[in-house]
Amino acid sequence: MNKKVVEALTLQVNKEFYSAYLYLAMNQYFEDQDMPGMANWMYQQFQEEQFHAKKMLKYLNSRGVKVVLEAIEKPQIEWPTTMSVFENVLEHEESITASINNIQGIAVDEKDFATMNFLQWFIDEQIEEEENASNLIKQLQLIGDNGYGLLMLDKELALRTFTEPAAE
Ligand code: FEO
Repeated sequence: MNKKVVEALTLQVNKEFYSAYLYLAMNQYFEDQDMPGMANWMYQQFQEEQFHAKKMLKYLNSRGVKVVLEAIEKPQIEWPTTMSVFENVLEHEESITASINNIQGIAVDEKDFATMNFLQWFIDEQIEEEENASNLIKQLQLIGDNGYGLLMLDKELALRTFTEPAAE
């Protein structure tokens, strides 16, 4: 497999695990704030990011690559407001989208068609990731200082579940 593509995908595995860790930190923040629904939303996100990392590991393994794991950076653990946490989610997902797009660019340059095909799933996934965060920010803007509204949103976010696809 092309060396540049392997390096970029290996770095992305680390970024996906870092994403999982960041969402686990956000989960802990909301647990501490007594917002169980938001804590749940972050926990589901934590699981989803681990799935992303595992999907990449599996792909690299299937192409004969042994992945060299690096240290995972310590995530931010405190935020000033609920809104700032979700703004951080959007900002983070935008950076992940840029990172995935960058790898796709490398795969195109190196004519690695299998990786181009593999990454399409992640490109589509990032549209959803950014949309989810944007929608939550819009809802929080509408809620403003309304405590009842915040409580209702928390109840809604308690319903989010993530199930790893069986084929993976
Ligand atoms: Fe793995 Fe949130 O993108």
